[in-house]
Amino acid sequence: MSEWRNPLRDKRDKRMPHIAGPCAVVIFGVTGDLARKKLMPAIYDLANRGLLPANFALVGFARRDWADEDFAKLVYEAVQAHARTPFRQEVWDRLAEGIRFAQGTFDDPKGYERLAETLQKLDAERGTGGNHAFYLSIPPNAFPVVCEQLKQSGLANQREGSWSRVVIEKPFGHDLQSARDLNAVVNSVFPEESVFRIDHYLGKETVQNILALRFANELYEPIWNNNYVDSVQITMAEDIGLGGRGGYYDGVGAARDVIQNHLLQLMALTAMEEPVNFGPGELQAEKIKVLSATQVMQPLDQTTARGQYAAGWQGSEKVVGLLEEEGFSKDSTTETYAAIALEIDTRRWAGVPFFLRTGKRLGRRVTEIALIFKRAPHLPFDKTMTEELGQNALVIRVQPDEGITTRFGSKVPGSAMEVRDVNMDFSYGSAFAEDSPEAYERLILDVLLGEPSLFPVNREVEFSWEILDPVLEYWASQGKPEAYESGTWGPQSADEMLHRMGREWRRP
Ligand code: BG6
Repeated sequence: MSEWRNPLRDKRDKRMPHIAGPCAVVIFGVTGDLARKKLMPAIYDLANRGLLPANFALVGFARRDWADEDFAKLVYEAVQAHARTPFRQEVWDRLAEGIRFAQGTFDDPKGYERLAETLQKLDAERGTGGNHAFYLSIPPNAFPVVCEQLKQSGLANQREGSWSRVVIEKPFGHDLQSARDLNAVVNSVFPEESVFRIDHYLGKETVQNILALRFANELYEPIWNNNYVDSVQITMAEDIGLGGRGGYYDGVGAARDVIQNHLLQLMALTAMEEPVNFGPGELQAEKIKVLSATQVMQPLDQTTARGQYAAGWQGSEKVVGLLEEEGFSKDSTTETYAAIALEIDTRRWAGVPFFLRTGKRLGRRVTEIALIFKRAPHLPFDKTMTEELGQNALVIRVQPDEGITTRFGSKVPGSAMEVRDVNMDFSYGSAFAEDSPEAYERLILDVLLGEPSLFPVNREVEFSWEILDPVLEYWASQGKPEAYESGTWGPQSADEMLHRMGREWRRP
């Protein structure tokens, strides 16, 4: 059963650190990039912050013929290379005592028997209490077989007084039908409240701050609607390329990789109504409502754009195009840039386009949500005095340089009444002494605490595919995406798309 408590009835002081209870985390896919760069370091960081219990255990499951020490060495190297917090020997020693390895392939029942024995031993020796989280950091085509084996071996059973949870990483399918099939497989083994789908954007501080900004303040909510907002732009730009990631990315593309999940979640948090509280049911219900009211604007040749990066300059580095990257087929039609215009059919948002865009090898790395406001209905100034006045904007800077910017017009000092745009900035770096935890720290801890609020449920995933499927089908019928030079802001068709709608992309 979920340990989630109703915040309305729960009178504990929420500022007290919430420490996970006794448990073991089993990672499938320990040699993958995600496990090395994010998961194992996040577990160490949690231990370092005192948020894991003394009787915590970490188990690796993989094909290699390894002893516990070999796996511990892998974890140690990952921690040394990627942990956020400083290395402390005593924290590592305590963590290392609970590190085990179970050898097996995903489809071999014997491997799962060994895993079950390892977990039983840990329960007996270390007091992990029969509480097990299975983290599937593996290719999605392996989800069904691993879930099935977890069921057959009894590891997925929910036993009285203990829990068994599964954590899955995106992609949650590649279209609506495959997502439904995947959800059916996962839910036939684990009840929905034991399924934790990771969308790591929801673990970011700045993303959770959307809720604080909107619902803890009186300043913004009155103007957070179509009376004042002209349009919303959600941008996730990356400067990195895709060399070496072809195995995952070729045939997937930017829309499936990040719009289906990260960007639609950002949109949902920006556009949803106020939940009664931040309990999982309440928050998810509001996100589901807004996703179910969202669709891509028509016609798709005018309201969508896609591109593929070609060679160019990334700062002072000369970089190759996608088709020359290792791991990509020479005639790949995979898009590395995607932009779509959405409409949300609710009273609050009718008539306000939401523009979502993402791309690799763009000018620089930046993720932001920008609310662009309508112009003042009347400007009582001489026309020449407001030539440099744009539209007011509220920009939530998700990363890097986390913070919020408000853009508004201000008088230029001098004898004339000239008005020009200025920015007012809030920056996490200067406002708070604390460093933000990594998204994975927060999310792994929430899995162990049984706090599902920050994890998308199956219906959110399915509605997101429902929004995206028509675009993907349309693009599939259109041949090659337009090439754009690396280091620029994407294909020309994306600029034209916005011009047609009388807007312009921000240049963050
Ligand atoms: C992942 C995508 O989900 O997010 C990657 O698969 C992308 O393609 C990454 O690079 C970006 O994450 P972040 O946290 O660095 O913005």
